[in-house]
Amino acid sequence: PQNHFLESVRPLIELIDSLRFIGLDEDIGLPSIAVVGDQSSGKSSVLEALSGVALPRGSGIVTRCPLELKLQKIKTGPWSGTISYDGHKEAFSDPLKVDSLVRAAQDDLAGTTVGICDELITLEISSPDVCDLTLIDLPGITRVPVNGQPDDIGDQIKSLILKYIDKSETIILVVVPCNVDIATTEALRMAQQVDPEGLRTLAILTKPDLIDRGAEIDVLNIVQGKVIPLSKGYIIVRCRGQSDINNRVPFEKAMEDEQNFFRSHHYFSSLLADGNASTQCLALKLTRELGDHIKKSIPTLTEEIQNKVLNVQRELKNYDQGPPMNEELMGPFLSEIILNFSDQINELSRTGHSQDKN
Ligand code: GDP
Ligand code: NA
Ligand code: MG
Repeated sequence: PQNHFLESVRPLIELIDSLRFIGLDEDIGLPSIAVVGDQSSGKSSVLEALSGVALPRGSGIVTRCPLELKLQKIKTGPWSGTISYDGHKEAFSDPLKVDSLVRAAQDDLAGTTVGICDELITLEISSPDVCDLTLIDLPGITRVPVNGQPDDIGDQIKSLILKYIDKSETIILVVVPCNVDIATTEALRMAQQVDPEGLRTLAILTKPDLIDRGAEIDVLNIVQGKVIPLSKGYIIVRCRGQSDINNRVPFEKAMEDEQNFFRSHHYFSSLLADGNASTQCLALKLTRELGDHIKKSIPTLTEEIQNKVLNVQRELKNYDQGPPMNEELMGPFLSEIILNFSDQINELSRTGHSQDKN
């Protein structure tokens, strides 16, 4: 039944991806999942666990541009990846290249230092081992600028995050480590600001292996929604820690360790059965949420697309008659046509294809 369900979600995700592909997301919001949290809360680790792809990680600001991770499950065939940003596009077949390619793309877009940038890097991955999801990794929230960062880096990052989570089509994945006070988390506060009722906010609790002794029951209460209720709820996951990474623990082994960790946990074992613990649960829940979300968004999307078409048709009508006869209107008329034309030429030289669909 699970597989059957996932199969039924696929066409929805493909629909949205193809709309994104033709550039529609520049005009209207398409459903997606954005990952937000403090720096080092475990955002990239969660994405890694979901995608099975080693992303750039480490202390300090590592994610410096929004990274769109498009995962596509294929029935058979080898792993394949494509990275694209700002007119660049590169296909590759070695998963180990992801880290260096993403870093190089960030250096290109945001400079080689510690700056951030709001240009999107898209990483598409097809493999039999991923689930059908499109996720966006965002730079982590910081308060104190590090050497070389502008004083307002915190505000820059927050407004970048807001740009993504503000859209009603975005599912917000708030990542919070178990060992911090969730109520004071800036990421959750931002999510509540744009989604006061928590209708599209899902919280992920990370690092359950680092909880202080005696604090387990508080975390359990949080996961069960007894502290800050969220309608989409909480999922607790355990990802690879720094020592696992240093020891090159493979993802499959890490997932197994995670299952064992929860299964044998005195407080959290029941969460596994309830579907509130583990990366596997998270993947399933996200796919389901995204499917539901897309279904709900389709009427609005259709309406928005129809409105766009109407506007374009209306605009087109202006040129029905050819150039205006009134001499005063001729100048503006001509300059508009020339500007449009030069925009199209620019677009063509930038992307290699014209926006003009005719
Ligand atoms: P990001 O800055 O939010 O993207 O955080 P990262 O994913 O880079 O993680 C920051 C650090 O926390 C890394 O050293 C991870 O290995 C570690 N980490 C992430 N999840 C867990 C976890 O569940 N348990 C432990 N012990 N460490 C984790
Ligand atoms: Na980090
Ligand atoms: Mg990161």
